Amino acid sequence: MEFSYLNPTQIEFGQGKISSISSLIPKDNKVLFIYGGGSIKRNGVYDQVINSLEGYNFFEFSGVEPNPTKETLDKAIKLAKDEDIDFILAVGGGSVIDGAKYVAHSYYYEGDGWDILEGKYISEKALPIGAVVTLAATGSESNTGSVITKAQTKEKRFFRSVHSFPKFAVMDPSVLKSLDDRQIKNGLVDAFVHTCEQYLTYKQGRIAQDNYAEGILRGLITLANSVDNRDDLWYANLLWLANQAFNGLIGAGVTQDWATHYIGHELTGLYGIDHARTLAIIQPNLFRVLKEHKAGKLLQMGENVFRIDTTDPDIIINKIEELYKSLDIDLKISDYTDDKEVKEKVIPLLIKHGFSKLGENQIVDTNIVEKVLDKSM
Ligand code: NZQ
Ligand code: ZN
Repeated sequence: MEFSYLNPTQIEFGQGKISSISSLIPKDNKVLFIYGGGSIKRNGVYDQVINSLEGYNFFEFSGVEPNPTKETLDKAIKLAKDEDIDFILAVGGGSVIDGAKYVAHSYYYEGDGWDILEGKYISEKALPIGAVVTLAATGSESNTGSVITKAQTKEKRFFRSVHSFPKFAVMDPSVLKSLDDRQIKNGLVDAFVHTCEQYLTYKQGRIAQDNYAEGILRGLITLANSVDNRDDLWYANLLWLANQAFNGLIGAGVTQDWATHYIGHELTGLYGIDHARTLAIIQPNLFRVLKEHKAGKLLQMGENVFRIDTTDPDIIINKIEELYKSLDIDLKISDYTDDKEVKEKVIPLLIKHGFSKLGENQIVDTNIVEKVLDKSM
């Protein structure tokens, strides 16, 4: 086992913590306050942020969409450059925080920010970011990931950089109460799949990572089973579980999968299907196609997460799928689009994006993707 682990994001967790922003951003910094389509104006978060920014020289940029587009974010880059911004405050879900990361990196680049997503430009620095997370799902508030869409070409791409870690993440669970059931359920699924992408590969003997991942999975299942009876502690647990699922810890020194995510990103780019729903569609079928390869870990998950003693991996795959169904997630691509030529579009895009071999040990080639998509139609 060999790894380098860093997570420098300061976490401020708890009700009322939005006020801590004023002690976390240097007073002389010019701040760009970035947010989404307006949910924060309806649930009181906007007012709390504005109060905390009293005395700062700050600018607002709103309208970052779910699955944030380069086209929108490029306007924020222009504003940041025109106003010589020093610090970006992202207030929203994964989309806003991911968008802020793209702006923070593009700030120091003269070319088209999309070059970062295409790997044509590797940025060496970025503006500092602070995050106030309002949706529990992605872990973006304390990780290095950012997923951006180019609306013009319907491409959804991913970049990672150590310079993307937010300086701080404010995590106030009471903010999640204004989320609708669909976003809450999407968040449970996204966090569950993030954990699986790092855990459900093959037996690697990583005792700490496996045990922590299994604890996160059991916790998410407990929350899924009580999703209709949410209290303050339920929201707090979801927020922290989703963060822990994808803050780097359970994946340290582990060979990881992520094929479900890369296939899912193409489906969101092409058809606008919610990120978590693409994962729930693809993942059980990927496991079915790779059943023999993943059997050891599926059975371990059966024993330690679902508490099922079996030698049949299909039983565990079905349990995972039942979990998604219990959260009212439609599990066929045809539930979301009439397009019959999905694989004809997804596979060339994966190849274009450099993903002709995916998954742990690069075992998911385009033939396997085709089988998975056939099962998912
Ligand atoms: O835009 P507003 O008005 O704020 O509304 C949002 C949006 O419509 C709303 N919302 C957020 N917080 C709310 C709220 N509504 C009521 N009350 C609140 N407290 O929820 C909607 C969805 O928000 P979004 O940010 O898109 O959701 P999520 O956090 O699930 O982020 C999804 C994006 O993150 C990417 C996905 O691909 C997708 O683009 N991912 C980012 C990752 C990362 N950075 O590491 C990893 C993930 O695997 C994922 O790919
Ligand atoms: Zn995800």
